[in-house]
Amino acid sequence: MGLPARFASRDPIETASRDELAALQLERLRATLEHAFANVPHYRAKFEAAGVRPEDLESLADLARFPFTSKQDLRANYPFGMFAVPMHEVVRVHASSGTTGRPTVVGYTQRDIDTWSEVMARSIYAAGGRATDICHNALGYGLFTGGLGYHYGAERLGMAVVPIAGGQSERQVQLLMDFGATVITTTPSYLLALAEEFDRLGVDSRSTRLRVAILGAEPWTNEMRREIEDRFGLSAIDLYGLSEVMGPGVACECAETKDGPHIWEDHFYPEVIDPETGTPVPDGEPGELVFTSLTREAMPVVRYRTRDLTRLLPGTARPAMRRMAKVAGRSDDMLIIRGVNVFPSQIEEILFRQPRLGAHYQLELWRNDRHLDQLDVLVEMRPEFAHADQAVRDAAARELQHHVKSMVGVTVHVKVRPTGEIERSIGKAKRVVDRRPK
Ligand code: DLL
Repeated sequence: MGLPARFASRDPIETASRDELAALQLERLRATLEHAFANVPHYRAKFEAAGVRPEDLESLADLARFPFTSKQDLRANYPFGMFAVPMHEVVRVHASSGTTGRPTVVGYTQRDIDTWSEVMARSIYAAGGRATDICHNALGYGLFTGGLGYHYGAERLGMAVVPIAGGQSERQVQLLMDFGATVITTTPSYLLALAEEFDRLGVDSRSTRLRVAILGAEPWTNEMRREIEDRFGLSAIDLYGLSEVMGPGVACECAETKDGPHIWEDHFYPEVIDPETGTPVPDGEPGELVFTSLTREAMPVVRYRTRDLTRLLPGTARPAMRRMAKVAGRSDDMLIIRGVNVFPSQIEEILFRQPRLGAHYQLELWRNDRHLDQLDVLVEMRPEFAHADQAVRDAAARELQHHVKSMVGVTVHVKVRPTGEIERSIGKAKRVVDRRPK
């Protein structure tokens, strides 16, 4: 039957039926559990402690009997203890920045790199990228999976890649104009920093040839999407991934629907669990996203807890592949202010609706002299209001404070900073600064 012609997809599996996909998943899931059990002492010990063996998996639902894997497990097996193949079969390693403690290390065989390139090519194609495009890749290269992940996918698709990486914004603007890139790949926060650089240089950000931006690596709201699309006159697509599971390209939105990333379920098996109890919740219910890799050789992951909070939704542009709702935030990023749970994305959503306040923000957490936590929202005026007088600034601050109070339920202090004072991101934005005493 297939999809209507306007739903262009790259790989036949994207248009398979749910039953075909489920059969493939079961076969691959078994193989992954066997591979992990046979070749990674950590998994063998964990499975044995939980009283399960790979052959206990008779249906997809049986996966819930297997133990979870966490970032701590990866750290405890630093650097290569989670690898399931001998080192001579590993052709690449990446590592997370590891702001606290040891970084987490991931490894790839040549086939893993091929799979990754293929899911990235599939993602870029779903986003609307084609071989005829020039791709300006402003993601960091190096141990971070972003730059190289996109690079290989874009090349696989046959695009011309400009491997500029992040930073040096003035040069980015110049090359965007000179090379005429049609696709840009970066983080949403850095793309907004670039919009500002266009303004600073007096170049119209709508005068580029860009038509698609494929953005990810951090949570972002649909309000931010609108701002980006408006500033550049392009279509902004959400692409999700994490290094422990592969890197970018685990899931990607489709250009036709832009309704949350479709998970490439032939390679990554998703579950959403209640983060407190660990029990899987039905599709549609919110919880923590968990992934089991289905085809990875060098480092299979079994039920990896991402800490990302989302919901599984039925497929649309790719009917058999479920979607994930835009990530609301990471459970690690959740702030509890006087008993109220707050995610930076909730504040972002409200901020982007304020006509006078700008696109760069940071949240600062303090403990006041009565030992109570206090949340400050640092913002700037939009460039058009940069020279507004104090009364206008105060009014803008009060309005934001009022909306946050009525919609999120917390009292925040809004601080309007001079233009340019809030740190600009060149990769993943740092949204929360915790200034409470340790
Ligand atoms: O950020 C991989 C990536 C690079 C994805 C470029 C997309 C684009 P890590 O550094 O391991 O890998 O960080 C993974 O970033 O668990 C989420 O919390 C967050 N994240 C990634 N993509 C999105 C997204 C890369 N589209 C962590 N929306 C994940 C929300 C995202 N959060």
